[in-house]
Amino acid sequence: MKNDAEENAERAARLAAVLNLAVDGIITIAERGNIETFNRAAEGIFGYAAEEVVGKRINMLMPEPYRSNHDRYMQRYHDTGERRIIGIGREVGGRRKDGSTFPMDLAVSQVELPGRRLYTGIVRDLTRQRRVETLAEVGRIASGLAHEIGTPMNIILGYAERLRQKSSEPKITAGLEVIIAQVERVSRLMDALLSYARRPALERRPMAFEPVARSVFAILGDRLRESAIRARLVVHPTAPLIEADKDRIEQVVLNLVVNAIDAMPSGGELVVSAEGLESPLRLRITISDTGVGIPVGQLAAIFEPFVTTKPTGKGTGLGLAVVGSIVREHGGTVQVESEVGLGTTFRIELPAQEPGVV
Ligand SMILES: Nc1ncnc2c1ncn2[C@@H]1O[C@H](COP(=O)(O)OP(=O)(O)OP(=O)(O)O)[C@@H](O)[C@H]1O
Ligand SMILES: [Mg+2]
Repeated sequence: MKNDAEENAERAARLAAVLNLAVDGIITIAERGNIETFNRAAEGIFGYAAEEVVGKRINMLMPEPYRSNHDRYMQRYHDTGERRIIGIGREVGGRRKDGSTFPMDLAVSQVELPGRRLYTGIVRDLTRQRRVETLAEVGRIASGLAHEIGTPMNIILGYAERLRQKSSEPKITAGLEVIIAQVERVSRLMDALLSYARRPALERRPMAFEPVARSVFAILGDRLRESAIRARLVVHPTAPLIEADKDRIEQVVLNLVVNAIDAMPSGGELVVSAEGLESPLRLRITISDTGVGIPVGQLAAIFEPFVTTKPTGKGTGLGLAVVGSIVREHGGTVQVESEVGLGTTFRIELPAQEPGVV
């Protein structure tokens, strides 16, 4: 026979196990605003371990001005019973351990226990959803724009090309060539913007990295041969498979290798390598060059769209933005290390498959 204490402990353990399985963050708060329980999903959302927050005040999870005002809100509710959030649920801001803030859906309910009152908050991080919505919005705007701009651009291009063929006046021919080059530049920019914003759904399959890297080297074969760049591909024999969209991974490697080639106008060394890393199992892809490097001041913004140092018309500045978003879509990370005059290394880590798991 179990005694009451044992039964209570068992019930608490069972409840904790259930709470920890929930995908939403679940937090219980005592009447005075101190955190009593903090489930695993909440740990993931806010970046705190339960031990770091239990017993502390709930306002530590809120951005200003709520952080400073929350005690007053609780007091007001206590005094007047007027509900602003309890039983309603709404979108509010949350604050992570690292100080960053994010949008979240919050539902609070009140539990009356003998002699005391508890609050339960259920939290859902809306960051991802917001990002998807923003991207979808950008996609809609971009495809509308591309359509609107594409038609007149094609007409301009058609006339300019016909006139150039007919023209025998060098000055006019030169002028028409500028027009054609600029129109082509706008078209390239629209294509890049479209492929950034309106991409088809991921098609993830188990894949090896090596064939993808080889295909990039083949695509860039001419450019590499014309240059004084020594290019090497080093795939470690134990490099694991990844579950990924082959075309997009190729796009990532292509963008990074093109950047590396551009960074070495007078030659140098390019190394693309891949190896496995343990716990959790992941594939690390490294692309390094001995090129011009990236000044420290530019490093922070390098993955932002439209950041480019290439001469007007040469680069869209979308290459690395595409790299970043594809890597994120695959649950991976990308890092860059660079020293001006010495070169640049991009490191990508992608979740990999345990051998034998297909
Ligand atoms: N390997 C590298 N070495 C030195 N600078 C780099 C390297 N990779 C990127 N950069 C810098 O980052 C900028 C942004 O790169 P990104 O690929 O996003 O755009 P881009 O190459 O300028 O344009 P696009 O990719 O459309 O041709 C580049 O203009 C360049 O200044
Ligand atoms: Mg680029």
